Amino acid sequence: MKVLVILGSPRKGGNTEILADRVVEGMKDGSADVELIRLADYRISPCLACGGCEKTGCCVIQDDMQKLYPRIDSADRLILVSPIYFYGVTAFLKAFIDRCQALWSRKYLLRQPRQGGVPRIGYLVSAAATKGEKIFDGAILTAKYGLDAMDFKYGGALLVKGVDRKGAVNDMADELERARQFGRNIAEG
Ligand SMILES: Cc1cc2nc3c(=O)[nH]c(=O)nc-3n(C[C@H](O)[C@H](O)[C@H](O)COP(=O)(O)O)c2cc1C
Repeated sequence: MKVLVILGSPRKGGNTEILADRVVEGMKDGSADVELIRLADYRISPCLACGGCEKTGCCVIQDDMQKLYPRIDSADRLILVSPIYFYGVTAFLKAFIDRCQALWSRKYLLRQPRQGGVPRIGYLVSAAATKGEKIFDGAILTAKYGLDAMDFKYGGALLVKGVDRKGAVNDMADELERARQFGRNIAEG
Protein backbone atom coordinates (compact mmCIF):
# COMPACT_ATOMS: atom_id res chain seq x y z
CA MET A 1 0.00 0.00 0.00
CA LYS A 2 1.44 3.38 -1.06
CA VAL A 3 0.94 6.19 1.44
CA LEU A 4 1.62 9.84 0.65
CA VAL A 5 2.00 12.20 3.62
CA ILE A 6 1.76 15.93 2.83
CA LEU A 7 3.29 18.11 5.57
CA GLY A 8 1.79 21.61 5.58
CA SER A 9 3.70 23.23 8.45
CA PRO A 10 6.74 25.40 7.75
CA ARG A 11 8.06 24.47 11.22
CA LYS A 12 10.51 21.56 10.97
CA GLY A 13 10.16 19.20 13.92
CA GLY A 14 6.93 20.92 14.93
CA ASN A 15 3.87 19.38 16.54
CA THR A 16 2.09 18.22 13.39
CA GLU A 17 5.29 16.71 12.03
CA ILE A 18 5.83 14.82 15.30
CA LEU A 19 2.25 13.52 15.10
CA ALA A 20 2.72 12.57 11.44
CA ASP A 21 5.93 10.68 12.33
CA ARG A 22 4.01 8.70 14.97
CA VAL A 23 1.24 7.93 12.47
CA VAL A 24 3.90 6.68 10.03
CA GLU A 25 5.48 4.54 12.78
CA GLY A 26 2.07 2.98 13.38
CA MET A 27 1.61 2.33 9.67
CA LYS A 28 5.03 0.75 9.32
CA ASP A 29 3.98 -1.93 11.83
CA GLY A 30 1.80 -2.93 8.89
CA SER A 31 4.65 -2.54 6.28
CA ALA A 32 3.22 0.40 4.29
CA ASP A 33 5.35 2.12 1.63
CA VAL A 34 5.36 5.72 2.91
CA GLU A 35 6.58 8.95 1.25
CA LEU A 36 6.67 12.26 3.15
CA ILE A 37 6.52 15.57 1.28
CA ARG A 38 7.34 18.79 3.14
CA LEU A 39 5.48 21.47 1.18
CA ALA A 40 7.78 24.25 2.47
CA ASP A 41 10.57 22.62 0.40
CA TYR A 42 8.50 22.94 -2.78
CA ARG A 43 7.73 26.02 -4.84
CA ILE A 44 3.96 25.94 -5.35
CA SER A 45 2.14 28.95 -6.77
CA PRO A 46 -1.46 29.63 -5.76
CA CYS A 47 -4.14 28.65 -8.31
CA LEU A 48 -4.57 31.49 -10.81
CA ALA A 49 -8.12 30.50 -11.86
CA CYS A 50 -7.05 30.70 -15.50
CA GLY A 51 -9.42 27.88 -16.46
CA GLY A 52 -6.71 26.03 -18.41
CA CYS A 53 -7.38 22.77 -16.55
CA GLU A 54 -11.04 22.85 -17.57
CA LYS A 55 -10.00 21.82 -21.07
CA THR A 56 -7.24 19.34 -20.27
CA GLY A 57 -7.47 18.26 -16.62
CA CYS A 58 -3.87 19.44 -16.26
CA CYS A 59 -2.55 22.59 -14.59
CA VAL A 60 -0.71 25.01 -16.88
CA ILE A 61 1.54 26.41 -14.13
CA GLN A 62 4.99 24.87 -14.49
CA ASP A 63 6.28 24.70 -10.91
CA ASP A 64 6.99 22.01 -8.31
CA MET A 65 3.31 21.00 -8.11
CA GLN A 66 3.92 19.17 -11.40
CA LYS A 67 6.13 16.74 -9.44
CA LEU A 68 3.32 16.07 -6.99
CA TYR A 69 0.37 15.31 -9.33
CA PRO A 70 1.74 11.86 -10.31
CA ARG A 71 2.46 11.09 -6.65
CA ILE A 72 -1.13 11.95 -5.70
CA ASP A 73 -2.40 9.71 -8.50
CA SER A 74 -0.30 6.72 -7.51
CA ALA A 75 -1.08 6.87 -3.76
CA ASP A 76 -3.54 4.48 -2.12
CA ARG A 77 -3.76 6.55 1.05
CA LEU A 78 -3.14 10.28 1.44
CA ILE A 79 -2.59 12.08 4.73
CA LEU A 80 -2.91 15.87 4.81
CA VAL A 81 -1.01 17.31 7.79
CA SER A 82 -1.36 20.92 8.93
CA PRO A 83 -1.46 23.05 12.06
CA ILE A 84 -4.39 25.42 12.41
CA TYR A 85 -3.60 28.92 11.18
CA PHE A 86 -6.51 31.32 11.73
CA TYR A 87 -9.08 28.51 11.86
CA GLY A 88 -7.89 26.90 8.64
CA VAL A 89 -4.95 25.00 7.16
CA THR A 90 -1.62 26.74 6.42
CA ALA A 91 -1.10 28.68 3.20
CA PHE A 92 1.30 25.93 2.06
CA LEU A 93 -1.39 23.27 2.28
CA LYS A 94 -4.11 25.55 0.94
CA ALA A 95 -2.05 26.35 -2.19
CA PHE A 96 -1.46 22.60 -2.70
CA ILE A 97 -5.19 21.86 -2.35
CA ASP A 98 -6.22 24.77 -4.58
CA ARG A 99 -3.90 23.49 -7.29
CA CYS A 100 -5.87 20.23 -7.14
CA GLN A 101 -8.55 22.17 -9.01
CA ALA A 102 -6.93 20.49 -12.05
CA LEU A 103 -7.90 17.09 -10.58
CA TRP A 104 -11.38 18.43 -9.78
CA SER A 105 -11.73 19.47 -13.46
CA ARG A 106 -10.52 16.06 -14.59
CA LYS A 107 -13.05 14.30 -12.34
CA TYR A 108 -16.13 16.51 -12.55
CA LEU A 109 -15.87 18.49 -15.81
CA LEU A 110 -14.04 16.08 -18.09
CA ARG A 111 -15.35 12.92 -16.38
CA GLN A 112 -12.01 11.23 -16.86
CA PRO A 113 -11.66 8.48 -14.26
CA ARG A 114 -8.25 8.10 -12.70
CA GLN A 115 -6.32 5.05 -13.93
CA GLY A 116 -6.48 2.12 -11.51
CA GLY A 117 -9.85 2.89 -10.05
CA VAL A 118 -9.49 1.14 -6.65
CA PRO A 119 -11.11 2.99 -3.73
CA ARG A 120 -8.66 5.27 -1.97
CA ILE A 121 -8.88 6.88 1.46
CA GLY A 122 -7.53 10.21 2.73
CA TYR A 123 -7.08 11.63 6.23
CA LEU A 124 -6.27 14.84 8.08
CA VAL A 125 -3.78 15.28 10.92
CA SER A 126 -3.93 18.65 12.68
CA ALA A 127 -2.98 20.48 15.86
CA ALA A 128 -3.97 23.82 17.36
CA ALA A 129 -2.86 25.97 20.27
CA THR A 130 -6.34 26.63 21.61
CA LYS A 131 -9.21 24.34 22.60
CA GLY A 132 -12.27 25.94 21.00
CA GLU A 133 -15.12 23.68 20.00
CA LYS A 134 -14.94 24.68 16.33
CA ILE A 135 -11.18 25.01 16.04
CA PHE A 136 -10.83 22.22 13.44
CA ASP A 137 -14.08 22.77 11.50
CA GLY A 138 -12.55 24.85 8.69
CA ALA A 139 -9.57 22.51 8.21
CA ILE A 140 -11.81 19.42 8.16
CA LEU A 141 -14.04 20.88 5.44
CA THR A 142 -11.05 21.98 3.35
CA ALA A 143 -9.45 18.54 3.72
CA LYS A 144 -12.68 16.68 2.87
CA TYR A 145 -13.36 18.63 -0.31
CA GLY A 146 -9.70 18.70 -1.34
CA LEU A 147 -9.46 14.94 -0.92
CA ASP A 148 -12.63 14.46 -2.94
CA ALA A 149 -11.09 16.42 -5.85
CA MET A 150 -8.01 14.18 -5.58
CA ASP A 151 -10.39 11.19 -5.66
CA PHE A 152 -9.98 10.01 -2.08
CA LYS A 153 -12.83 9.18 0.26
CA TYR A 154 -12.45 11.03 3.58
CA GLY A 155 -11.52 8.52 6.28
CA GLY A 156 -11.32 10.78 9.35
CA ALA A 157 -8.91 12.94 11.29
CA LEU A 158 -6.41 12.89 14.14
CA LEU A 159 -6.85 16.22 15.92
CA VAL A 160 -4.88 17.51 18.90
CA LYS A 161 -5.91 20.66 20.78
CA GLY A 162 -3.89 22.77 23.19
CA VAL A 163 -0.38 22.44 21.69
CA ASP A 164 1.55 25.56 20.74
CA ARG A 165 5.27 25.53 21.61
CA LYS A 166 7.41 23.66 19.07
CA GLY A 167 7.59 20.05 20.21
CA ALA A 168 5.02 20.47 23.01
CA VAL A 169 3.15 17.39 21.79
CA ASN A 170 6.16 15.28 22.81
CA ASP A 171 4.99 15.77 26.42
CA MET A 172 1.57 14.28 25.62
CA ALA A 173 2.15 10.53 25.73
CA ASP A 174 -1.55 9.72 25.24
CA GLU A 175 -1.73 11.78 22.05
CA LEU A 176 1.43 10.19 20.68
CA GLU A 177 -0.02 6.75 21.32
CA ARG A 178 -3.32 7.83 19.75
CA ALA A 179 -1.32 8.92 16.65
CA ARG A 180 0.44 5.53 16.46
CA GLN A 181 -2.91 3.77 16.72
CA PHE A 182 -4.34 6.06 14.01
CA GLY A 183 -1.47 4.88 11.75
CA ARG A 184 -2.10 1.22 12.59
CA ASN A 185 -5.77 1.65 11.69
CA ILE A 186 -4.84 3.24 8.35
CA ALA A 187 -2.50 0.35 7.54
CA GLU A 188 -5.16 -2.22 8.43
CA GLY A 189 -8.09 -0.44 6.79
C1 LIG B 1 0.26 32.21 11.65
C2 LIG B 1 -0.27 31.33 12.76
C3 LIG B 1 -1.64 31.29 12.97
C4 LIG B 1 -2.17 30.49 13.99
N1 LIG B 1 -3.52 30.45 14.18
C5 LIG B 1 -4.04 29.68 15.17
C6 LIG B 1 -5.45 29.66 15.39
O1 LIG B 1 -6.26 30.31 14.72
N2 LIG B 1 -5.92 28.88 16.41
C7 LIG B 1 -5.08 28.12 17.20
O2 LIG B 1 -5.56 27.43 18.10
N3 LIG B 1 -3.74 28.10 16.98
C8 LIG B 1 -3.19 28.87 15.99
N4 LIG B 1 -1.84 28.87 15.77
C9 LIG B 1 -0.96 27.98 16.59
C10 LIG B 1 -0.57 26.66 15.89
O3 LIG B 1 -1.69 25.99 15.38
C11 LIG B 1 0.14 25.76 16.90
O4 LIG B 1 1.30 26.41 17.38
C12 LIG B 1 0.53 24.41 16.34
O5 LIG B 1 0.93 23.54 17.40
C13 LIG B 1 1.68 24.53 15.34
O6 LIG B 1 1.96 23.28 14.76
P1 LIG B 1 3.39 22.99 14.08
O7 LIG B 1 4.39 22.95 15.21
O8 LIG B 1 3.24 21.67 13.42
O9 LIG B 1 3.66 24.08 13.10
C14 LIG B 1 -1.29 29.70 14.78
C15 LIG B 1 0.09 29.76 14.56
C16 LIG B 1 0.62 30.57 13.57
C17 LIG B 1 2.11 30.63 13.34
